[in-house]
Amino acid sequence: MSADGVTRVLFVCLGNICRSPTAEAVFTNIVEARGLAGDIDIDSCGTSGWHKGEPPDERATREAARRGYDMTALRGRQIELRDFERFHYILAMDYANLSELQAMCPAAFSGHLGLFLEFAAGVDEEEVPDPYYGGDAGFSHVLDLVEAASEGLLSALQRRD
Ligand code: 4NP
Repeated sequence: MSADGVTRVLFVCLGNICRSPTAEAVFTNIVEARGLAGDIDIDSCGTSGWHKGEPPDERATREAARRGYDMTALRGRQIELRDFERFHYILAMDYANLSELQAMCPAAFSGHLGLFLEFAAGVDEEEVPDPYYGGDAGFSHVLDLVEAASEGLLSALQRRD
């Protein structure tokens, strides 16, 4: 938590059009449903800037909408140096994203970095697999993992307060 009492969470993947915006939409939905929108600030970004300013991948948006999450207002952006100080939880979708973040992160903030699925109870996988080059089933699997990890993350934040 910061001086203003707000906990800031940043989800990170490669392109910021599939996995991390899905995590942003799902976690935002859960946080709002629990009445905690004023306590937790949520954002997402990519380690790359390849899809800067673009809306999320249509397949991700469609699978999220099927489950009641709205991703239509989200736009891609790339990680910036100032994010490492601003966000208390910077959660990577896979090990490649995490090592990109570790390479950029000032030492003082390295404790802010982690893997999102560390918060997913009962899930064997450690990474949210990149669904970009696969079929619709990959996007559905991303949603399953992201929903589990989002519940676990919120529980962890609440235990800590
Ligand atoms: P994301 O998926 O990292 O979950 O947003 C990808 C999106 C785009 C690309 C790769 C992965 N790409 O190669 O453009």
